[in-house]
Amino acid sequence: MSKPAPRDFRPKLHFTAPSMWLNDPNGLALENGVYHLYYQHYPYDTVWGPMHWGHAVSSDLHHWEHRPIALYPNELGMVFSGSAVVDEKNVSGLGQDGKAPFIAFCTSHGEKEQQSMAWSLDGGNTFTWFSGNPIIGNPDIRDFRDPKVFANPVLGGFSMIVSAQDRAMLYHSDNLKEWKKTGEFGPVPELSQEGFVWECPDLFPLVCNGKEIWVMVLSVVFPAPKGGHHTVYFTGDFDGKTFHRHEDSPMELLDGGPDCYAGSTYWGTQDRIFIAWQACPSYAGEVPTGEYCGQMTLPRIFTLKETPRGVKLSAKPVGLEDQLASGHTAGETLSSETFALRVTGSGAGSVTLCNDEGEEVVFGIDEENCLFVDRSRSTNLHFSQNYEKPELQFYRCPRFETGEWQLDAIFDVSSLELYVDEGTRWMSQLLFPSQPYKKIKFQGKICISLTDFL
Ligand code: FRU
Repeated sequence: MSKPAPRDFRPKLHFTAPSMWLNDPNGLALENGVYHLYYQHYPYDTVWGPMHWGHAVSSDLHHWEHRPIALYPNELGMVFSGSAVVDEKNVSGLGQDGKAPFIAFCTSHGEKEQQSMAWSLDGGNTFTWFSGNPIIGNPDIRDFRDPKVFANPVLGGFSMIVSAQDRAMLYHSDNLKEWKKTGEFGPVPELSQEGFVWECPDLFPLVCNGKEIWVMVLSVVFPAPKGGHHTVYFTGDFDGKTFHRHEDSPMELLDGGPDCYAGSTYWGTQDRIFIAWQACPSYAGEVPTGEYCGQMTLPRIFTLKETPRGVKLSAKPVGLEDQLASGHTAGETLSSETFALRVTGSGAGSVTLCNDEGEEVVFGIDEENCLFVDRSRSTNLHFSQNYEKPELQFYRCPRFETGEWQLDAIFDVSSLELYVDEGTRWMSQLLFPSQPYKKIKFQGKICISLTDFL
């Protein structure tokens, strides 16, 4: 089971399960003012195991109430990742007494991976498996999973995007129960070498300067020897059947740091809200957190921004702007473990958070105008050889903007999220200092304002 934690690393702003293992967010949907967050969960150990869907609800995406496990493995297998919709018009016929069914779509992972659905009439608490499962059988592809269902504005009805090894497959349905394949996207040249596995695809429209642009988000397992896990995105169009990448749209990293994977966006919200698993799968099971293992990123609102390097996705943490804007000038000491720094600067500049044990994390903008983070000296706790791999210690990615910058850093006990240039570049990382960071140092022409959250 779990080893005791060297100290309490549970974050205050980031979602964690009450205990045991958590990975991907699932079934993100807003229903009657309630935000649902289901998640990949193994309730009997702090490492990955046969997957269930854990469940929590919130009215503001910050304060979460835990609910009983929503989906258990069944005769078709474990319950892998997926999505949820509220069937307002009852096209599925699964509603009762005027109650719209809340429908979850997941991958049944047994001998093969197939797509299944289950519905709920009690606000997403308990579910009934659909008797016609699987709704999409396996097309002879080993990795065929993570169905994301969305309203289809071109054909009407619904589309489902499913990852299928080195591509994504798209399906259409009018009643959410019978699905017909309409197209494929991929493989793409950047991910064409053998061994890439696509996971958790998401596809949604955003408007930029009055023009609708579709964004495809993918989490990707990179093949050996380089290996690694990254979430990427493309911009393009959706013709109702498949996604067409814009010719001038390079593949972009969604999050330039190590710890943001398998994310997805909400059904039913006005803003496009994204939550991801805040972890890097190669060491996710080895973090020194004791009774629980795994946390989510902060919920972020996605928009598109025109930058000197083209249209880019921008992420902003939900509901924190007022607090970030009303910080006070930072001194040299930190008095809490959950705080935000708003750093403004021009040219190269960096911030160091450190403690008396000689542990420190450094981040900022470097001489080459890249956002960077260096966590190579962030902890003396040697809890995982994988975490200590040199390539997982130092991250940098070029800004899309030049000149003055504003960088928001949100620190939450064991998490550091960085957002620069209105969130067109951002990075998420897990940090496990053996003692809290107590001091701030900085270099360069910068100003720092501090907000203590608690
Ligand atoms: C991504 C993933 C998904 C899968 C789930 C299993 O982290 O591998 O592709 O559905 O986790 O827990």
